[in-house]
Amino acid sequence: MNVRPTSLLPALFPTIVPPEPFLDEADLQRELGTLPAAPVVWQVRSLDSTNRCLLEWAPQGLPRYFCLAARQQTAGRGRQGRAWISDPEGSLTFSLWSVFDRSLQELSGLPLVVSLGVLEALHSLGITTVGVKWPNDLWREGRKVAGVLVETTRLSSGQVGAVIGIGLNVALPPAVQEAFSLSLNDLRDEAGQAPARGTVLGRLLNTLIPLLESFAQSGFSPFAETWMTHCVHRNRPVTLRHPDQTLSQGECIGLSPLGGLILRNPAGDSQTYHGGELSLRWEGT
Ligand code: BTN
Repeated sequence: MNVRPTSLLPALFPTIVPPEPFLDEADLQRELGTLPAAPVVWQVRSLDSTNRCLLEWAPQGLPRYFCLAARQQTAGRGRQGRAWISDPEGSLTFSLWSVFDRSLQELSGLPLVVSLGVLEALHSLGITTVGVKWPNDLWREGRKVAGVLVETTRLSSGQVGAVIGIGLNVALPPAVQEAFSLSLNDLRDEAGQAPARGTVLGRLLNTLIPLLESFAQSGFSPFAETWMTHCVHRNRPVTLRHPDQTLSQGECIGLSPLGGLILRNPAGDSQTYHGGELSLRWEGT
């Protein structure tokens, strides 16, 4: 059994958030078995947000790569203050705890590494029509299939703790499909089949953890080229909406060493941007 002792968890954690497994343990362990040190995967029925919960417990000490997966989130957090909607039967919502000896600025590439890890895991499961959308969305055939929200906290050790939250649509129920058919996709194939959620979570962790180790060693720049090869907007004309709602337009040509987006404007000048929402130029502008 390759699960680390749960005594490493903050003492109150099991009382406040009792475990209630909802994923097939054999599926999960089949995937995790090949990692040198398998993470603790703590499964619960319902809580507000796996990200918020891990941030709250981080100061008490969490094992590295502790994973909290919730069947249901009642206040799931998305990027830019938005809510993250998920389905108890058809989604995967979880957060992974990690610790880095890097500055906050260097960690700006972490969400992109995570999105690349999700993409590689899905491709290895045979779901090859998935690409990445800057900064950290996963898209399938023009619609969003997964999102990543990384939240950081400075630890008393001086290191930075990162809560890596991932929300993935595995097999959305018909009502959700109908309501969001233009904007959301999931992992089902043409026959309506999707991999089991235990397999998906195990494969995601199996793929992500080695990438996180590599990012901790070498930072983002070794990932930039691979990320761009899977970028759904690569070499395409895009509009970037900044947090203050102003717009920048250009061709999406690459990533900076820290994961910033490089756009080339019609005059041929290149500029790097950090933050904002990206869309194709003819969408929503
Ligand atoms: C996005 O807006 O695209 C990011 C969505 C991230 C959602 C996940 S679900 C698990 C984790 N817990 C949260 O509250 N949010 C993240």
